[in-house]
Amino acid sequence: MKDFIAISDYSADEIKDMLDLAIKLKKQYFKKGNKPIFKGKVLGMVFQKPSLRTRVSFDMAMRHCGGDALYLSPSEIGLGTRESIADVARVLSGFVQGLMARTFEHSHVVELAQWSDIPVINGLSDYNHPCQGMADALTIIETFGKKSKGLNISYVGDGNNVTVSLMHVSALLGWNVTVATPEGYDVNRQAIEIAQGIAQMSGSKLSFVRDPHEAVKNANVIYTDTWTSMGQEEETAQRGKIFPPYQVNSKLVSEADKDVIVMHCLPAHRNQELTDEVADGPHSVIFQQAHNRLHAQKAILARLFDVD
Ligand code: CP
Ligand code: NVA
Repeated sequence: MKDFIAISDYSADEIKDMLDLAIKLKKQYFKKGNKPIFKGKVLGMVFQKPSLRTRVSFDMAMRHCGGDALYLSPSEIGLGTRESIADVARVLSGFVQGLMARTFEHSHVVELAQWSDIPVINGLSDYNHPCQGMADALTIIETFGKKSKGLNISYVGDGNNVTVSLMHVSALLGWNVTVATPEGYDVNRQAIEIAQGIAQMSGSKLSFVRDPHEAVKNANVIYTDTWTSMGQEEETAQRGKIFPPYQVNSKLVSEADKDVIVMHCLPAHRNQELTDEVADGPHSVIFQQAHNRLHAQKAILARLFDVD
């Protein structure tokens, strides 16, 4: 494995292997038995937009396992403005052993990977959020067990970067996915075609609807995310008028399977896409999901560094 740019770049077996490793590393962490598998390695972290979970979980993943991480802010690097992406990639390749990049444009993280001699991890682009998708899958497996084939995953809200990775990991693992989005806010067409190709092999069913109530029928998982992603701030008011029918609230949750879990990648805009009552209620797994970023990322790093 060289880079981790998209879940769909990997086979179902490779993704399952990484998730198994995440489960093993999580057990080690809770037994205070982290092994120094990243000793001598430093992860450079290039952030073009804000982060809590991604930044802290990557930093801690490296430190727990004997390595280190270096945060590089947008103003310091000036990716593609102060210096070309290709030059930044080639310079950093001589200083650090791995690179995590959160960019606006997906093509920028792809370009970093093309020019780097070291592994590059996509920490969220405008197209996808593969590290989030791995933590999400880990959380779903922890809840429903490994025999989770045929689970119904329902995503309600904006068809965005988080939706793409959730859709791809779910299709690889044989889960059915229903996505409910308002017209004009659909999931990226190319990402849907990729998911359909994966689903043909795994047997999972993919559905795209407008009605959130139809989407959550028989759902084992209801997932939502912000209505306005980073970089779309000027659309906030317009989106605020369109998305309220897609709010995940107690009424919507009551229409799903009685043991449904509610997920959100966070940060949440409470009482917009997700009510407080649901976020802090018995179906919510949002903090377990956030904490799983740490364990899933350790597994990704271990596979890229070829250590475990
Ligand atoms: N879910 C997620 O990626 O959170 P941050 O933006 O805080 O990293
Ligand atoms: N869709 C959100 C995810 C944040 C983790 C965004 O891109 O802002």
